[in-house]
Amino acid sequence: MDQRLTHHAYKLSFILLIFFLAFPPSSSQLHPLVANSTFLHLNYTAISDFRVLNRRTLLQCPDPNPYLQINVTNNADLSDEEFVTVNVSGVLLPSESDWVAMISPSNSDVTTCPGSEAYYLQTGDTSALPLLCHYPVKAKYMSSDPDYLSCKKQECQKYGNDGSCEVTTCSGSVTFHVVNIRTDIEFVFFTGGFTTPCILTRTDAPLKFSNPNSPLYGHISSMDSTGTSMRLTWVSGDKEPQQVKYGDGKSQASEVTTFSSDDMCSSIVPSPAKDFGWHDPGYIHTAVMTGLQPSSTFYYKYGSDSVGWSDQIEFRTPPAGGSDELKFLVFGDMGKAPLDSSAEHYIQPGSISVVKGMVEEVANGNVDSIFHIGDISYATGFLVEWEFFLHLISPVASQVTYMTAIGNHERDYVDSGSWYSGPDSGGECGVPYETYFPMPTPAKDKPWYSIEQGSVHFTVISTEHDWTEQSEQYQWMKTDMASVDRSKTPWLIFTGHRPMYSTLGADDKFLKIVEPLLLNNKVDLVLFGHVHNYERTCSVYNSECLAMPTKDENGIDTYDNSNYTAPVQAIVGMAGFSLDKFPDDAASWSLSRISKFGYVRAHATRDELKLEFVNSDTKEIEDSFRITKKQSSLRAR
Ligand SMILES: *[C@@H]1O[C@H](CO)[C@@H](O)[C@H](O)[C@H]1NC(C)=O
Ligand SMILES: *[C@@H]1O[C@H](CO)[C@@H](O)[C@H](O)[C@H]1NC(C)=O
Ligand SMILES: *[C@@H]1O[C@H](CO)[C@@H](O)[C@H](O)[C@H]1NC(C)=O
Ligand SMILES: *[C@@H]1O[C@H](CO)[C@@H](O)[C@H](O)[C@H]1NC(C)=O
Ligand SMILES: *[C@@H]1O[C@H](CO)[C@@H](O)[C@H](O)[C@H]1NC(C)=O
Ligand SMILES: [Fe+2]
Repeated sequence: MDQRLTHHAYKLSFILLIFFLAFPPSSSQLHPLVANSTFLHLNYTAISDFRVLNRRTLLQCPDPNPYLQINVTNNADLSDEEFVTVNVSGVLLPSESDWVAMISPSNSDVTTCPGSEAYYLQTGDTSALPLLCHYPVKAKYMSSDPDYLSCKKQECQKYGNDGSCEVTTCSGSVTFHVVNIRTDIEFVFFTGGFTTPCILTRTDAPLKFSNPNSPLYGHISSMDSTGTSMRLTWVSGDKEPQQVKYGDGKSQASEVTTFSSDDMCSSIVPSPAKDFGWHDPGYIHTAVMTGLQPSSTFYYKYGSDSVGWSDQIEFRTPPAGGSDELKFLVFGDMGKAPLDSSAEHYIQPGSISVVKGMVEEVANGNVDSIFHIGDISYATGFLVEWEFFLHLISPVASQVTYMTAIGNHERDYVDSGSWYSGPDSGGECGVPYETYFPMPTPAKDKPWYSIEQGSVHFTVISTEHDWTEQSEQYQWMKTDMASVDRSKTPWLIFTGHRPMYSTLGADDKFLKIVEPLLLNNKVDLVLFGHVHNYERTCSVYNSECLAMPTKDENGIDTYDNSNYTAPVQAIVGMAGFSLDKFPDDAASWSLSRISKFGYVRAHATRDELKLEFVNSDTKEIEDSFRITKKQSSLRAR
């Protein structure tokens, strides 16, 4: 949805960068365009309050007061997940603009960073000078403690001779949700708000995680269509191989990988990923469990005697490709949101309710697999955000296979080989994505693949890599779809991130080039995200309805694909990112438009493919449709 806007912002920032290099501005004398840039970039999707903060001069706080203290109420080492309460006391005059930041690593430079000035321009915000040399993991205004501004919690700092209090100060506390990001953390008390902050005081000693090597966030993906081999991927601070133990006494050693800030892409000026957004990812372990039965439950745990072991986790393998049935969930653009209502880089407000809904679906046995089709974590160069995302999805991604497609926010960056050149990945260029979510793709940075589960063949493409006729990916998708044995998998689903049809607009070139392949190969259903809502079409080709669904006995729209005309396309980008509203008018191919948070629940048998858009807040089905096909014509007899 943001491609044109970000592209525009990016170009602007380059022009401004050149301007800056030619005429370094003083903070008092800003070019009016630059002074206005916070306003100009308010709608730029890769921006947050923090990004604005990162580009302002950090002022010296006037009159630091001798009573100020910032303390963590429980000073013990941190476990893998905790709520940490931070107490600020000795405040003479509590202010709306007082805030506390969580900094990690604890030695991050959070004072001015004038040398980095130019670095920040290319993230889209061109206002003034950088301040924090490192990005705070999260922050909260002290006013979120309802007793803070009113000074309900008072201490007497100095008594007069008559025993009366001469100096009274106020205190308040805020609580942060902390997950094990391995690096020591520190809390810093600022005033001046996010736009003109200055440091008042910081904690004396950094807090340590009691086990920075803990094996965490194990999640599972399919390697192939057999349902017998499953890849487990997890994170740990330790680079020695660990193990997954599974089934009846089987085990497999992990392969260990990582990435460094040198692997992040960048342009003339460092990207956030390479610079102030960088956070060490530790080591990413992956191990393949083989010899499993499809559609079966087994148990596993991962770790080692030296770093410790995860809990024992119950997992269900997906059905083998060609078997009769598949239940899956599909959505795009989910991201994450803080569990403590703190300010963080790039928050996706719907993500928590969607994950909660999915946890219930998995517990109810409604899910064989999950497909998250692009815009995965929205870390966009602020790497610690991947850990919060992995933590959020862990309850579902550890229990059923979690398959992904790449989105603009994982991949795009100028001169990096992405098809669209916006800075949407913040310099990640797909490297963290590929490392955390290894899919059965042909090679590095070729994030397309196909997989069969039950009665469905999924062709998963990257809309962020070249898909024009001469490209490797185009040849691949053409061959892949042509090779589908429809007597084995009657349903062909084509999926990726950016849409072909959206009332809010789509890339016409993509439609012109790729849509003919869908029709030629009789694709039944096309699923995309990127636009943050839900929308469903008729059987559409070249922006025209070649067939309309009819209502079945329950009033559900039913597309008869025994008499195939064209694919049904749906946008399912409503899983977390702030929703996009629809205009009043829509084209005739648009049959259903809903702007609510949720996920799509799908059930494929051999002669029916049924989809339901579930509102994650109410659990109500907001839209449903069926695609039916008589199997007699397909079954080899
Ligand atoms: C800056 O923004 C204000 C609105 O906030 C606008 O009136 C003004 O024209 C803008 N200046 C420039 C140079 O764009
Ligand atoms: C940002 O979006 C709002 C709401 O869509 C719009 O009213 C405003 O003009 C936009 N601002 C800029 C700078 O594009
Ligand atoms: C509280 O923090 C201050 C620094 O802000 C430190 O000097 C003091 O010793 C701490 N008090 C306790 C009880 O830990
Ligand atoms: C915060 O510190 C003040 C002063 O030391 C103390 O009176 C207050 O009880 C503390 N609050 C919490 C929540 O620990
Ligand atoms: C097949 O679909 C086309 C287009 O909707 C329609 O004209 C035709 O009557 C259909 N044939 C059958 C046998 O349903
Ligand atoms: Fe997107």
